[in-house]
Amino acid sequence: MTQPVWTHIPIMAPEIADLLLTNPHGVYVDGTLGLGGHTRYFLTRLADDACILGFDKDEEALAIAQERTADKRLQAFHAGYTHAPEKLKELGINGADGALFDLGLSSYQLDNPDRGFSILHNGPLDMRFDRANPVSAAVVVNTWPLQELERILTDYGEEKNATKIALAIMRARKETPFETTEQLKKVVESVCPRYGKNHPATQTFQALRIACNAELDNVAQVLSVLAQIVKPGGRAAVLTFHSLEDRLVKNKFKEMAQSGAWKLINKHALAPSYEEVRHNRRARSAKLRVIERVL
Ligand SMILES: C[S@@+](CC[C@H](N)C(=O)[O-])C[C@H]1O[C@@H](n2cnc3c(N)ncnc32)[C@H](O)[C@@H]1O
Repeated sequence: MTQPVWTHIPIMAPEIADLLLTNPHGVYVDGTLGLGGHTRYFLTRLADDACILGFDKDEEALAIAQERTADKRLQAFHAGYTHAPEKLKELGINGADGALFDLGLSSYQLDNPDRGFSILHNGPLDMRFDRANPVSAAVVVNTWPLQELERILTDYGEEKNATKIALAIMRARKETPFETTEQLKKVVESVCPRYGKNHPATQTFQALRIACNAELDNVAQVLSVLAQIVKPGGRAAVLTFHSLEDRLVKNKFKEMAQSGAWKLINKHALAPSYEEVRHNRRARSAKLRVIERVL
């Protein structure tokens, strides 16, 4: 069988390049390389002696990014972006000119049923960015206690039926352990009937993805070590896709700016143009925040 050609359209690439690439000869960190869409766009704007260090937890995405980019200015690492400070140190680089964090998951991961992220396709209940991570979505629903399930559904899914869904998961897993996305969808549907245009398990899927990849913890952690990634005069850009992430970035950037060591490049989050959203529906919830290191 032929492999599908996976795609991911980089979001707000020209806007990010305008704000982030202040030095055409510089060193940049792409903390979430994905299929390399942003990186390839950035490389068209950078000189021959520039360099991009790309990080991703997803080894399969990383291989595609490297093959499609095929540019010696890209060095790709199978590692979480929280490891960027030690990688820079190891390479003898005293801070990058800019860093991008394009949060969440790529269309490659979402559209690939084998990865278990999508509510639209049946697949294994996986949802890990990194296949080496021992905590898959199945591990969470099959083994975490009721209170933890309720907590993640409330905190990461903003799910108002968190208790009902957590209890239904507990009951169902006693009968048959969860293995597929379809099983989970059915259990959620059994206690929350379909209403409106979103599937009732949409928020549950979001909560599980955030929990098994410790997404918000990683964002908080990388923002707290940004000064070990970006040098004075350098910038960091963060693209978020839901209010939990955006709130975290907004508050952290505000705190950093108040310290005097950083300044906000845009006071309010920037959004993709109407044209971009018309061509790429997945851009519709994107928000971009950029900060510059002053000291
Ligand atoms: C929205 S996609 C990036 C798409 C990319 N900008 C492009 O244009 O192709 C987000 C990527 O971040 C990766 N990711 C998520 N959390 C990560 C982390 N803590 N460290 C490194 N990569 C991470 C995911 O595996 C995914 O490939």
